[in-house]
Amino acid sequence: MKEILSGLRHEYNIDLVVGNGENAAGGIGLTPGTAEELFDSGIDVITTGNHIWAQKEIIPYLESEPAILRPLNYPPANPGRGYLLKKKTLIVNLLGRVFIGNFDCPFRAMDQLLAEFEHKSIPIIVDFHAEATSEKVAMGKYLDGRVSAVLGTHTHVGTIDAHILPGGTAYVTDIGMVGPIDSVIGDDPNSVIERFLTQMPSRLSVGKGNVSFDAILVEVDKNTGKAVDIKRIQKITD
Ligand SMILES: [Fe+2]
Repeated sequence: MKEILSGLRHEYNIDLVVGNGENAAGGIGLTPGTAEELFDSGIDVITTGNHIWAQKEIIPYLESEPAILRPLNYPPANPGRGYLLKKKTLIVNLLGRVFIGNFDCPFRAMDQLLAEFEHKSIPIIVDFHAEATSEKVAMGKYLDGRVSAVLGTHTHVGTIDAHILPGGTAYVTDIGMVGPIDSVIGDDPNSVIERFLTQMPSRLSVGKGNVSFDAILVEVDKNTGKAVDIKRIQKITD
């Protein structure tokens, strides 16, 4: 992030950077220290996902650092928040349920939130952190015309379907990751293959070598909140 993001911010004149940091702490979870590094690299808002509670020290920090989101559809009394307004944009973090876990309904959670912002015509960016492509495509269609972008995360594998839906919502099933190319979704390949072969739990380590920087750039009309353009950006460190 440190190497690539500031150059991109200048090259594309980017107003707002949202980065999913749920596994920035050595491959799982997020700590206050790694969050600070991400902010220093140029990220404005950190979203997360199902690993948000993995590093215990992040839990009190969620209350003091408003620019880190945990998924909206956790129980409402949980620490932290699932959305925030930054640079006149509403950023929302949502968690899917198919093959991930039993969370509150992300579709109804969005209905409830959007009802609060009904009369405000502002850009709305949704990070939908989910495993199943079907759930993500369905969420894109459900929110089409109601938000500016539905951008998928969690699988670490970028998809080719970045496009603008008929109602003006930019959509991609998965952004991908910022992580090592020679890896199995970020982890050292040998340790992951060992797990598949033995079906025994084993410690995973982060892969090494060149890093793929996967990102999605969305242009939004700030007056209507509709997406004007979506494109994939991929850089590789050397
Ligand atoms: Fe995840």
